[in-house]
Amino acid sequence: MSTVIETQTTPTPTAPERTATKKSVLMCRPEHFTVVYQINPWMDPAKPTDTALAVAQWQTLHDTYVGLGFDVQLIDPVEGLPDMVYAANGGTVIDGIAYGAKFTHEQRAAEGPAYMEWFRRAGFDVREPAETNEGEGDFLLVGDAILAGTGFRSDGSSHDELARVTGREVVTLTLVNPSFYHLDTAIAVLDSRPGQEHIAYLPSAFDGPSLEVLRERYPDAILVSEEDAAVLGLNSYSDGRNVVIAARATGFERQLREAGYHPIGVDLSELLLGGGGVKCCTLELRR
Ligand code: ARG
Repeated sequence: MSTVIETQTTPTPTAPERTATKKSVLMCRPEHFTVVYQINPWMDPAKPTDTALAVAQWQTLHDTYVGLGFDVQLIDPVEGLPDMVYAANGGTVIDGIAYGAKFTHEQRAAEGPAYMEWFRRAGFDVREPAETNEGEGDFLLVGDAILAGTGFRSDGSSHDELARVTGREVVTLTLVNPSFYHLDTAIAVLDSRPGQEHIAYLPSAFDGPSLEVLRERYPDAILVSEEDAAVLGLNSYSDGRNVVIAARATGFERQLREAGYHPIGVDLSELLLGGGGVKCCTLELRR
């Protein structure tokens, strides 16, 4: 079962009333999860992993989404692709268009076509990528714009490709800390509705110019501590009211509650061994 964190913290009197939007997401059961290569600082092939525990923890996340009324779709896991559980990297799906992923590392390359095949069968308008990009790991829709990460994985040229494919404004942000190698480890989108945009982020994960952009666009953003970011607390998923987060990110949990949200903590300790958390396991499907 998931833990609904209950504390004494109450929303500040000025906190707005938060409203939930029904979400549709794609997930991949971690039946073949393990750590046999290292492509980020969290991964250590020498440390043992427990696939059954990974599946059980993932199931809790899945059931939490179902409990929130989300439409949860599943893609079949492929043997030999241990990182396929991180569905966020499988592509970017906006307005019925599925812009495919093209992975930085050879070890994950085969995930790109596997996800595109799923999108095709599900009736999405699939666009094959020419440029290296790791899907929603680096692309976050906030309002009408897409925040796009670069520095470790997705290439800057994919930001232009994404803008052409979606016809949307794409805002480049440069990541500088290898522990926060994907944008979804450094920014949490709390409310993506146009006019209601609200995010949380870790300032030290960005270079100076990117930080300027974030400060200017989101003056009321929640700034998260290094401690909470270090348990991938920002790697969370929100429906505008309910925010599913790493249970260990207790400071962020308090900040969310004060801001009028309803945080729900889940423990994905096994999947953290691969360098991923809640959001990494979640790909939003937008028709
Ligand atoms: N082991 C995976 C990698 O390094 C983890 C991916 C995490 N996904 C994410 N959306 N941040 O590629």
